[in-house]
Amino acid sequence: MKHLIEPTDLTVAEIEEILSLAEDIIAHRDRYREACKGKKLATLFYEPSTRTRLSFTSAMLELGGTVIGFSDAASSSVSKGETVADTVRVIRCFADIIAMRHFKEGAPLVASQYAGIPVINAGDGSHAHPTQTLTDLLTIRREKGRLDHLTVGFCGDLKFGRTVHSLLRALSRYEGVRAVLISPEELRLPDYMQQELAEGSALEFREVRRLEEAMPELDILYMTRVQRERFVDREEYERVKDSFVLDPEKMRAARKDMIVLHPLPRVNEIARAVDNDPRAAYFRQVENGKFVRMALIYTLLKWAGENRPLECTPLFSEPYSVNEMRCPNPRCISATEDVDRLFRRAGEGWRCAYCESRPE
Ligand code: CP
Repeated sequence: MKHLIEPTDLTVAEIEEILSLAEDIIAHRDRYREACKGKKLATLFYEPSTRTRLSFTSAMLELGGTVIGFSDAASSSVSKGETVADTVRVIRCFADIIAMRHFKEGAPLVASQYAGIPVINAGDGSHAHPTQTLTDLLTIRREKGRLDHLTVGFCGDLKFGRTVHSLLRALSRYEGVRAVLISPEELRLPDYMQQELAEGSALEFREVRRLEEAMPELDILYMTRVQRERFVDREEYERVKDSFVLDPEKMRAARKDMIVLHPLPRVNEIARAVDNDPRAAYFRQVENGKFVRMALIYTLLKWAGENRPLECTPLFSEPYSVNEMRCPNPRCISATEDVDRLFRRAGEGWRCAYCESRPE
């Protein structure tokens, strides 16, 4: 059974198939009005969301399906202590596909082990957000006409920004992509991600501390919010929260055909005055999110129909280890739920399969 937990769960060819389907849906919306008639999507959102949850809901309704779920864990039996594994064993009796957002990193991976129906990660902590990545890829393809030979500036919170991690991984599989990583020292892209990109991909990248340094060379500027909810130290948040503000003055240094993306929500990092610039593509990006989620739901249900297993999914195809190592990340699902401790080989060492932290 195919799930979408990380963007690299899809091959480049599968991503191409989904993006092309999204473009066909945009061109021929009437043809898809009953494409998922009789199917139910469960949206299990343990963390706040506007775009992702409502675009999943809208996507399924436009495909002729129906939607059940919760938008606040407090209104479900999770508040009584029910585990992710038990929750999805229940949900599989009621729905055909699950979209899950969770504050614990790795929760959707646990769900995929027990659900027996396709699970889509709709964002897990600061780990991954693969449907935002599909949204970003569709937007880049529609705006720039290609996914290769691009220079992309990633600006803001590159440490906790799950959308940045997911998009970097996805773009690293295309030829000729250069990334300029623009962040304060405190919010640098984590070392494990830098190592992975340096050793495992052809993506070229460099770090800078000032947006102005990168502006003239960019095809795409990907702005991100400094996420207050991810900081343990409030003083550190206050120190870095306004590190970068994109305004019309900075936009003057950019190419005429550069586009500005942002997964949203924004706080202060893009001045309202930029919204009227035709290069500001972030609200067009939101709309693409619905179409690409329509394509994803339709495709995962089709794939599940072709090979639906009777029981739970076999765990993993890659070399994994279940042993005495411990994940040190308090935000990892393995810190609070009784799950197998799983570790994936990465280079010389091991990484937690749920959150990618190095084990203790
Ligand atoms: N981009 C995004 O994930 O937005 P929401 O948190 O509103 O879903």
